[in-house]
Amino acid sequence: MTVKVAVLASGRGSNFKALIDAVESGDCDARILVLITNNPDAPAITVAKQAGIPVEIVQRMDFPDRGSMDDRIKVILDKHGVELVVLAGYMLLIKGKKLLDAYKMRIINIHPALLPSFPGVDAQKQAFDYGARISGLTIHFVDENLDAGPIIYQEAVDISGCKSAGEVSKKIIEREHAAYPMIVDSFSKGHYAVDGRHVRFAPKPRS
Ligand code: GRF
Repeated sequence: MTVKVAVLASGRGSNFKALIDAVESGDCDARILVLITNNPDAPAITVAKQAGIPVEIVQRMDFPDRGSMDDRIKVILDKHGVELVVLAGYMLLIKGKKLLDAYKMRIINIHPALLPSFPGVDAQKQAFDYGARISGLTIHFVDENLDAGPIIYQEAVDISGCKSAGEVSKKIIEREHAAYPMIVDSFSKGHYAVDGRHVRFAPKPRS
């Protein structure tokens, strides 16, 4: 069953664009209902507009604290009847308990390293500087901690031939663009794997 998705992004939006393309080509059975961004200058906004996807800007400076910012995000998700929240380069931790509770196991993130190695920003540079020969990508559920939460999918990428952190990023993002739509599609099929165990995903009941 077509899964109803919101994307949260702060920047370039290339994963967002890959998801849009996969939906349009029929490879990913999802409907992207809204882009939510904290950054009014995010190129992801242009990506959304070109695809006719509504944009909601929810900026930190408009709220007294992070909890009330996330409450606003929850209101938007509820309004659209979102079932799966897809973080794609969203640069803020989700802190609102109401949002985390209401969308538990329904918020996913993609990280450009094999977690728990190299969490946080510049994961590709961290891997390169460390001298890692293999890095990769991780798709995981989001909880209140940074780049934590149950792992849904990981893919290794051989970076041993890379001469710069930029090359590492390029190799990994190509795989991200293939993997993220594939995993979103698995939610539409009502199943996905967490840590190798099969899990069922059901439509979100109306609250
Ligand atoms: C990706 O590398 C993703 O893994 C990380 O942030 C980056 C977002 O890139 N979470 P883009 O905005 O999708 O191009």
